Amino acid sequence: MDLFAHRGVSAHYPENTIAAFYAASKLPIAGIELDVHVTADGELVVIHDETIDRTSNGTGYVKDLTLQQLRSYDYGSWCAAHFTGERIPTLGDVLELFVATQHRINIELKTDIFPYEGIEALVIKEVAKHQMTERVIISSFNHESLQTVVQMAPYIETAALFAEVLVDFTTYTATIPANAIHVSLPTAFKKSIAFALEKNTPIRVYTVNDVEHAKQLQQLGIHAVFTDDPQALLDGLTEE
Ligand code: G3P
Ligand code: CA
Repeated sequence: MDLFAHRGVSAHYPENTIAAFYAASKLPIAGIELDVHVTADGELVVIHDETIDRTSNGTGYVKDLTLQQLRSYDYGSWCAAHFTGERIPTLGDVLELFVATQHRINIELKTDIFPYEGIEALVIKEVAKHQMTERVIISSFNHESLQTVVQMAPYIETAALFAEVLVDFTTYTATIPANAIHVSLPTAFKKSIAFALEKNTPIRVYTVNDVEHAKQLQQLGIHAVFTDDPQALLDGLTEE
């Protein structure tokens, strides 16, 4: 079962920062997951929330601030004093870090609240610029956004994110059409996911930080999990 560092190694570093992704880049794991939004001046930035309030010393919506304004804030000190100085990364900054590794990059388009018109084209362009098209998985809870990606770049792997249980994930996902299914931990244990696994649809599960849960998911045949602490799962899954 593959492991993806969720927002980087977010258990030990400030989430979605270069520090968290650099730590992940040194681990023997399948890949990383990150979240993207668009700034007021049309730049792609990596951050989870629509606002910078929770993970920086500033306030405001990403969509209302320019990249220069966003970079004036600190994205590390909220986590621990010794991370002071972390800046908000652009998508390009993170991709650059992984150009020389083998890791897969799961880019989540955070278009579920604000549509960020044109974000799909911007992401596809940035990925192509770094020649990482074959290593990227683009996911979103906004399946219309995913559909746009499929129409613009059908050669990029896409994954539909689900917060809820569907009775038939596979048939629904084929209507987008997306290549893979990303579900929450409780949903992973539902009958409908066992059914989707029988159809050989790639299934990845968020967010798995407990080794016992990871072992159960591995037994089920789940293809990958997103974890905040990849080293803990690496250790737990390989111990006798
Ligand atoms: O992509 C999996 C997971 O990250 C989705 O939920 O809220 O952590 O972005 P969230
Ligand atoms: Ca995410």
